Amino acid sequence: MTSVVPQSVVPPSVLVIFGASGDLTSRKLMPALAELVDRKFLSPQFSVVGVARTEMTDDDFRKRMYDSVSEAPPSWAEATSRFRYITGEYTAPSTFAQLTEVLNELEVSMGGVCNRLYYFAAPPSTFPILINSLGEAGLHKPTTEGGFVRVVIEKPYGRDAASASSLDDTVHAVFAESQVYRIDHYLGKETVQNLLALRFANAIFEPLWNRQYVDHVEVTVAEEIGVGHRGGFYEEAGALRDIVQNHVMQVLALILMEPPATMDANGIRDEKVKALRSVVNIAEHDLENRVVRAQYDEGLSEGEKAASYRNEEGVSPSSHTETYVAMRLSVDNWRWAGVPIYVRTGKRLPKRVTEVVMHFRAAPHLAFAQKLAKKLEPNSLIVRIQPDSGISLRFGAKVPGQAFAVRTTSMDFDYDEQFTEEDLDGYERLLLDALLGDQTLFIRSDEVAEAWRIVTPLIAAFSDAEFPLARYAAGTWGPAESDALLQGDKHKWRQP
Ligand code: BG6
Repeated sequence: MTSVVPQSVVPPSVLVIFGASGDLTSRKLMPALAELVDRKFLSPQFSVVGVARTEMTDDDFRKRMYDSVSEAPPSWAEATSRFRYITGEYTAPSTFAQLTEVLNELEVSMGGVCNRLYYFAAPPSTFPILINSLGEAGLHKPTTEGGFVRVVIEKPYGRDAASASSLDDTVHAVFAESQVYRIDHYLGKETVQNLLALRFANAIFEPLWNRQYVDHVEVTVAEEIGVGHRGGFYEEAGALRDIVQNHVMQVLALILMEPPATMDANGIRDEKVKALRSVVNIAEHDLENRVVRAQYDEGLSEGEKAASYRNEEGVSPSSHTETYVAMRLSVDNWRWAGVPIYVRTGKRLPKRVTEVVMHFRAAPHLAFAQKLAKKLEPNSLIVRIQPDSGISLRFGAKVPGQAFAVRTTSMDFDYDEQFTEEDLDGYERLLLDALLGDQTLFIRSDEVAEAWRIVTPLIAAFSDAEFPLARYAAGTWGPAESDALLQGDKHKWRQP
């Protein structure tokens, strides 16, 4: 779907990671890089410069990065031996003077070409400082003609519509939008991209993909884990900022969008942003009818006793932060008018599953006797993003036997069973795309703004302690209020 072909090799470049001593670097970025190195996607001179406040020598950093990859291939030892590290504050000009020096040295060793990809893996509060410092040090411009300088910015991109727009102003004062890669790791998942293939590479689904045939849509992003050691972070984020504004909105945009004229970055992103623009803001007076916020109590999860959210490390005992959100959205456009879109996400649910369910309208007339069609549901198409990615089409079939009974059955496609090709997981794919200059799977500034626009009324409502906070036991499918949200429309959540 993008211009990336497997054999594309990144030109000589350096990945500069701010926040290099942190969790994201060792847990996600290094394993992804090791894979890209091993599969020879990167040029042999490829290097990494880590920048962070933690004191470390080059050798300490190399060892740490080497160790962060389990069962590392021999190519990883060779690659990490070229890595460099700078200890410094992001506010200190000396950090950027040192960075300039190291980049110049690497440029010489690379034969005069040194493309740069800056990766912001540091806390979001440092993003404006990093951007300004890079600009002031003149590190935002390519050093050779045809070379590149790009910046990958991790989520959260802002805390609400206003702060995201102000961050955008800072970014655009230094970098052109074509240099900016706002990352959402969900877009790196094969099955999220497969939504585009399913919809736009087949002639049979698209004619049904609209209000005439679709009765309602369900999007579930469920996690079994609790907040773990991230209580401090989560208190500030909550499910709305952590999952809904980014991952859910990206999946929604891909489901709702019109077919793009071209499958390139702007072709796809133009349609995604148009789709998000059509999602209606929930009116203030309707928020309590359309949105459920909830928090987990103690319960049983992953086979063990699990603490309540309020008892997690770093969480206030009187916290009102939502660990679960369910909502009913509507879309004002020709394709989706009148189709309810139900979304739910939560931590400490019974299992980790992300899926989209397109529920089709019931057959207009059933000629069978009611009792023979008791186990017949309207058709649905389930797109399972994770785990066990695949697609299931549920339809009615005759039950063998003398009576003409019909029952719902399913036709299942399993990604891993059907394809033997090696895939690239989220971060591998996205790092490679950023290095190759393909912005298709990154979020454009106007998309971020629309996603914030949709969640902003909810953020405002949730800041009020009086807004209802439903409770659910850890290890269950959320609060009764969430079921009631759908029951009002005579629908119910699918139990994945
Ligand atoms: C992250 C959130 O963006 O996504 C986490 O900050 C969440 O809270 C994670 O657990 C889920 O990602 P995945 O790929 O496991 O679905």
